[in-house]
Amino acid sequence: MNTRIVLANRPAEGPIPANTFKQEQRPIPRKEDLKDGEVVVKVMWLSLDPAMRGWLRDARSYIPPVKINEVMRAAGVGKVVASKCPNRQVGDEVEGTFGWQEYWHGPSKHTELLHPPRGASALDYLGPLGSSGLTAYFGITDVGKIKDGDTVVVSGAAGSVGLIVTQIAVSHPNCKVVGIAGSASKCKTLKDLGCHATINYKDGDWRKQFKDTVGFFDIYFDNVGGEMLDLALTRMNPHAKIVMCGAISDYNAGKPYRLGNYQALIAQKGTLQGFIVMDYTKRYHEGRAYLSKMLQEGKLKYKYHIVDNNGVNGCEEGLRGLFTGVNEGKMVVKVWDGNMERVSKL
Ligand SMILES: NC(=O)c1ccc[n+]([C@@H]2O[C@H](COP(=O)([O-])OP(=O)(O)OC[C@H]3O[C@@H](n4cnc5c(N)ncnc54)[C@H](OP(=O)(O)O)[C@@H]3O)[C@@H](O)[C@H]2O)c1
Repeated sequence: MNTRIVLANRPAEGPIPANTFKQEQRPIPRKEDLKDGEVVVKVMWLSLDPAMRGWLRDARSYIPPVKINEVMRAAGVGKVVASKCPNRQVGDEVEGTFGWQEYWHGPSKHTELLHPPRGASALDYLGPLGSSGLTAYFGITDVGKIKDGDTVVVSGAAGSVGLIVTQIAVSHPNCKVVGIAGSASKCKTLKDLGCHATINYKDGDWRKQFKDTVGFFDIYFDNVGGEMLDLALTRMNPHAKIVMCGAISDYNAGKPYRLGNYQALIAQKGTLQGFIVMDYTKRYHEGRAYLSKMLQEGKLKYKYHIVDNNGVNGCEEGLRGLFTGVNEGKMVVKVWDGNMERVSKL
């Protein structure tokens, strides 16, 4: 049977309550059930993302909300275990939107065949070579237009996207990079990765630290939004860019934070620009080439926070953990170890 987790009730504002999801068992499709071009994938890893909180909300966004009784949406990587498609062989490693379940079944064109470069693995397609890496790359280069000598501030800097943005910025000549995170140990990691200064936003004097260590910035790569963004608006150099990647501090809130300092954008001729990584799909090869090179040259160190708690059962608690900051680096759920010898024939 395929264990899957579906949306049972739409949560209101606040932390995701216990009755939001429910578990179901469904038969795993067998090869003879497949239509031409279809595959069955056994999921190895699932990505957990702050954006999932937004997908539970019935509101206009860049992607439709998850429907009630639908499997919770999630990116994943896995192995093909049954195929009626000439382009996919049993054992192939693939990526796709597999959802919170053990087995995914559908057209192979909704999966991407993985060819990890030297030194990388399939899991890295949920991290540096996946949405996190690509978000970081296009956000800092295409939206932020980073250039040598910039002062760059990154909020949520020890998270999945933030760790990569930080290291891309550090690798630019003469850039001053300040990382903001929620604990002393995360700040130490950021220092070890080459940040010139760090700020623990849970310190009582974090506002003073921001002013003293940053001075004024050219790029603020924002993963957090809210109060921190409001302070950042007062610390722009002329023509500074604020890259609006995410606003995790506000995702659980009913009423969004009201920015008080937005008029500074006028005086400093600043830009505040949002973006969605999926809009860059046609350029993913460019981003992956850049990130693979960084990995191979040892300029991109990466961390995973692995939830290994009875497969898909770990998804719900893992998702909550993103909002309390339990993770350093990419939060993923381990569903299966990928050992094909232990897979029964479908
Ligand atoms: N625009 C796009 O296309 C795109 C694509 C991917 C992700 N994103 C966005 O990028 C951001 C980072 O995503 P990610 O996957 O890399 O997640 P992540 O940073 O790995 O995990 C979330 C982190 O946010 C921090 N956090 C949680 N609540 C917070 C709060 N109230 N105030 C400040 N920090 C808080 C926590 O770290 P601390 O311990 O430091 O608090 C936590 O570890 C999210 O906002 C996400 O929605 C955007």
